[in-house]
Amino acid sequence: MSVVARLEEIAHIGRDPSSGGYRRLAWTDPDLALREWFIGQSSALRLDVETDCNGNIWAWWGDPSAGGAVITGSHLDSVPDGGNFDGPLGVASALAAVSELQRRGIQPRRPLAIACFTDEEGGRFGVACIGSRLATGVLAPERALALRDAHGVTFADALIRAGRDPGSVGAEPGRLARIGAFVELHVEQGRGLIDLDAPIAVGTAVLPHGRWRIDITGEPNHAGTTRMSDRRDPMLGLARLVDIAHREATARDSSSHAARATVGKIRSVPNAVNAIPAEVTGWLDARAEDEATLDAMLEAIGRDLVDLPGLHATFAMESRTPAQHFDATLSADLAARLGGAPLLATGAGHDAGVLAEAGVPAAMLFVRNPTGISHSPQEYAEDADCEAGGAALADVLADLLTADTLPR
Ligand code: GLV
Ligand code: MN
Ligand code: MN
Repeated sequence: MSVVARLEEIAHIGRDPSSGGYRRLAWTDPDLALREWFIGQSSALRLDVETDCNGNIWAWWGDPSAGGAVITGSHLDSVPDGGNFDGPLGVASALAAVSELQRRGIQPRRPLAIACFTDEEGGRFGVACIGSRLATGVLAPERALALRDAHGVTFADALIRAGRDPGSVGAEPGRLARIGAFVELHVEQGRGLIDLDAPIAVGTAVLPHGRWRIDITGEPNHAGTTRMSDRRDPMLGLARLVDIAHREATARDSSSHAARATVGKIRSVPNAVNAIPAEVTGWLDARAEDEATLDAMLEAIGRDLVDLPGLHATFAMESRTPAQHFDATLSADLAARLGGAPLLATGAGHDAGVLAEAGVPAAMLFVRNPTGISHSPQEYAEDADCEAGGAALADVLADLLTADTLPR
């Protein structure tokens, strides 16, 4: 079955008819349905499926304990109203690639697994890449289990509802040590490949990025009777945050030096049309070319929020990820194998980056997205590019599985 046919099989799961986007938040029914689909697809390829203590699924071809394993795959969850490519393209390509390797009669010299990582987007509990961060130990189990979704459900409760044991989540150094190479294929999420006029690129690095929560308190009051001069309206602080974040990032962003800042999620209490809010919260997603640019941008934004007249603002980091560099030898090898594919850094976060940060030899392949849009129903990849990506993945996996030694 082709990559596109596999994506079509899941195209109805979690799709919201009003927006056309996908709502596949971790451990919700659509996510569980996708997990079932993946297990069925893997079984059809005679792979041995295992769900680890953090809820990541591994479909094995060969003996996992042999070590030096070649891992591919991605994730199945989405942001709210995301596309059908961010994550699933990597999983569908991995399934198609393994099917192709079996058709070719490849005799692997080392085990292979297709991995589906849990909650890559952080769309439900606020922290991205929960599955891989727990595995590497970057995210402490106590912190993960206490995270709450918009309805107050903790990550621990969500695991219990899905029949899993929250007491078993945590770092898995032994599992990571048995990985010889991880190659994650992903739809490109910007305009990099459009500008390069190429269908596939090899990733070089994930830019430093993080999420910050800004709570601004004021004085709740009546919208009709409170004179404008008497107000302490925290929504004005939020407006200031949105504006200053946009301006500070714009001033530093260029074609060769990225700086991005977004306030994409807000909360107003009590959220009434005829009341000045008591408190508003904005979540700032900030990313930049390097740590110094990110620090300078955050400092400038924070400075602007200190003296909001009559208001009180607090600035709390929810997660921060340093620059993550993919394995240079493995990436160079992949680029050469693909006839000199271009190299591309990305501003998007990925499980491959989390594994790379933990010392796992990891690399990425990006597939062109002609809209240049992602985390939106407009995210897209042409059928021909999806199949080219799947074929490229099959070629690099064939090399990795049959080489005397893995590139390092
Ligand atoms: C994940 O896609 C992220 O970059 O936020
Ligand atoms: Mn993704
Ligand atoms: Mn994403």
